[in-house]
Order: sequence, then structure tokens, then C-alpha cells
Amino acid sequence: MKCMRLLIISLLVVVAILPASRVLAGEEQTPEQRKLAMEGARLWPIYCAQCHNARPGSEFSPNQWDAILMHMKTQSNMPAKNIRAIKEFLKTVR
Ligand code: HEC
Repeated sequence: MKCMRLLIISLLVVVAILPASRVLAGEEQTPEQRKLAMEGARLWPIYCAQCHNARPGSEFSPNQWDAILMHMKTQSNMPAKNIRAIKEFLKTVR
């Protein structure tokens, strides 16, 4: 029983780490991700420079961007779809 729980936990960890390692390894984006990132490139200077200077993608790690954008979403009431696009953009221009 304990063994099963360990197995499930380690699987969850792998699933959580996989997307980040794909970005860190600089592997190819899927076409959908590329489209999202291009949309994000268009939206980033519009949305993210309203209250402060737009901060470049290189300033934070992909994981930090996850947390920051969750916070900025509550600050600004941006649609989730646009936040996803900006996040993809910031994670890829590093
Ligand atoms: C409605 C105003 C507003 C908008 C729009 C906004 N921010 Fe912010 N942002 C803030 C405020 C206020 C702070 C500093 C205080 C805080 O953290 O709540 C901040 C802080 C930050 C920080 C600093 C975090 C740190 O630890 O140094 C980053 C990075 C950031 N924002 C990125 C973004 C990005 C990317 C966007 C576009 C998706 C965005 N912001 C849009 C208000 C905004």
C-alpha cells in the first residue's frame, strides 16, 4: 500500500517536472505553443507595460513566470487566454 503511494507520488513529480525540462532543454515547441508565443509577443508590450516597465522574459525562470503571471492576472483582470499567451512568450524568449 505504502509502495503504491510512493509510486503515485513519484509519477506526479515526473509529470510536474516534464514540461519545465522541455523548455529548459530548449526543445522544439509544438505549433500551438509557437502560435501562443507569437500572440504573447503582441500582447506583452500592451498589457505588461501599463503599470510598470514590461519586464523581459530573461529576467525570471519559467517557474518564476508561472507564479508572477498568476499574481499579475489578479492585479489586472486580464483574460486567462491572454495570460497563457504572454506566459508562453516570456518562457520562450530567454
Ligand atoms: C494593473 C497593473 C499591472 C499590470 C497590468 C501588470 N502588473 Fe506586474 N506588477 C504590478 C504591481 C503593482 C507590482 C508590484 C507589487 C506586487 O508585486 O503586487 C508588479 C510587479 C511585477 C513584477 C515584479 C516581481 C518581482 O518580484 O520583481 C513582474 C516581473 C511583473 N509585475 C510582471 C508583469 C507582467 C509580465 C505583466 C503582463 C502580463 C504585468 N506585470 C502586468 C502591477 C501590474
